[in-house]
Amino acid sequence: MEFTCNILFFLLLLLSSNLLTLFISTTFYSSSCSLNSQLQTTAATVDEPDLPSEFVAFTSPQKLPLGFNRNFDSEEILPSVGSSCTILQRDLRRYMSYQVNGSCPDDELLSQKLLLKGCEPLPRRRCRPSAPRHAVEPLPLPDCLWTTPSDASVVWSAYTCKNYTCLINRGRDQKGFDDCKDCFDLGGRESRRWTGHAASNLDFTIDEVLATKPPGTVRIGLDIGGGVATFAVRMRERNVTILTSSMNLNGPFNNFIAARGVVPLYVSISQRLPFFDNTLDIIHSMHVLSNWIPTQLLHFMVFDIYRVLRPGGLFWLDHFFCVGDELENVYTPLIESVGFRKVQWEVGRKLDRGEELNEMYLSALLEKPLNNSW
Ligand SMILES: *[C@@H]1O[C@H](CO)[C@@H](O)[C@H](O)[C@H]1NC(C)=O
Ligand SMILES: *[C@@H]1O[C@H](CO)[C@@H](O)[C@H](O)[C@H]1NC(C)=O
Ligand SMILES: *[C@@H]1O[C@H](CO)[C@@H](O)[C@H](O)[C@H]1NC(C)=O
Repeated sequence: MEFTCNILFFLLLLLSSNLLTLFISTTFYSSSCSLNSQLQTTAATVDEPDLPSEFVAFTSPQKLPLGFNRNFDSEEILPSVGSSCTILQRDLRRYMSYQVNGSCPDDELLSQKLLLKGCEPLPRRRCRPSAPRHAVEPLPLPDCLWTTPSDASVVWSAYTCKNYTCLINRGRDQKGFDDCKDCFDLGGRESRRWTGHAASNLDFTIDEVLATKPPGTVRIGLDIGGGVATFAVRMRERNVTILTSSMNLNGPFNNFIAARGVVPLYVSISQRLPFFDNTLDIIHSMHVLSNWIPTQLLHFMVFDIYRVLRPGGLFWLDHFFCVGDELENVYTPLIESVGFRKVQWEVGRKLDRGEELNEMYLSALLEKPLNNSW
């Protein structure tokens, strides 16, 4: 043991030319043999990053079979993954260990964790995703819009609940916080959202919002963090096509959205919106954009929303929440810096967790100007 440590220490001396490192190493050396793992880490990252072979296979440059391509301005393609993938080595290794041409492991929790930590987009894999054993065809339109889908179309392993009945009841039965806890109950509060049974000035209705634009000119859009996509369903009833971005945080949100017959987008709030500049008519977001998001990230996000909205497009910021004077000091200036025109701006107290917390809501309808957007 003593001997091993001596050799390791010597190797470390060879590796480090930095005097501070030397000093720290010496201090460590005198007390323990913990240098071993340290050295291995150093060697691994310096020499060859020890990445899973399927990850290397996917991300390494791929020669274009027909040679140089003018659109790509290159003769090869470099498939992209999130910048943090290689930092999250242990999880990445588990994620990319699978049988090529075979079935993927049932690892939804792992992939979502990687993704939320910044490995987004995830690398592609060459395996078939785990699938429900006894899947059924979806209900036809329009029944699917407001009917709880079959349990048989979901792989339930990643969630506390193992069926939709459990998810519907969890608003009443379960303690603790879950995202969108009562959303799966389509007969409950979900059925009344944005329809005019509003309790406060913060609850705009869809018809009110659509009426701010010439009839029929709001046609396509996005709902960011849209729960079970009731917003998209309500808009579909008005012939507006809305995509709904959602994670699967302790519930099969993406499956549920798809089962209702509207389109789910599995992208986190960190990712650049996958739309071209000046294209969408409307972007809505309720309860998601709030003070839990790092302020600088939020600033980038609101600019990205502005980017993809077409001139004259609407950003409906629905129940943004924050505390006390944050609204005045941080968020109002942040939103104002982007360049929207305020169509409606309503501020109110958020009282569900108690008055003493001094929580605030902002509901705003913002328009990207038709002209002069620079
Ligand atoms: C997977 O399929 C491809 C295409 O047929 C084949 O070239 C490859 O050898 C297969 N790999 C394995 C590990 O089965
Ligand atoms: C749904 O799951 C709960 C437990 O989560 C179980 O008690 C119940 O029997 C299940 N219901 C159906 C219809 O499968
Ligand atoms: C939606 O489109 C259909 C088919 O074009 C039409 O019959 C219906 O009236 C429209 N609904 C609304 C709310 O505009």
